Amino acid sequence: MRYYLKSILTQVEVYCNLELKKYTMSDKKTPIKVSLEPGKKYAWCTCSHSENQPFCDGSHRKHNATPSLAFEVTEAKEASLCTCKLTNNPPYCDGSHRK
Ligand code: FES
Repeated sequence: MRYYLKSILTQVEVYCNLELKKYTMSDKKTPIKVSLEPGKKYAWCTCSHSENQPFCDGSHRKHNATPSLAFEVTEAKEASLCTCKLTNNPPYCDGSHRK
């Protein structure tokens, strides 16, 4: 009986983890540090489907998801770009992934 219950609990746990993963906006929830250059146009992924996080690879079209956010910088800088898509200051990480 004990083994039977443990087996069921394990199956439920695996199922819940799969469901959670399915609804997670991004598997990688921490920011990615990038070097940004002035005069260059960037497209930040807003849908989490891109394989090129934190940048758009066009996958939103295939998934009928939200389009990318275009942005530029005025001076060269290192920046932490959001990958959890919960930031209130896109495309930059604002620490929302910790909440
Ligand atoms: S990675 Fe999204 S707020 Fe930090």
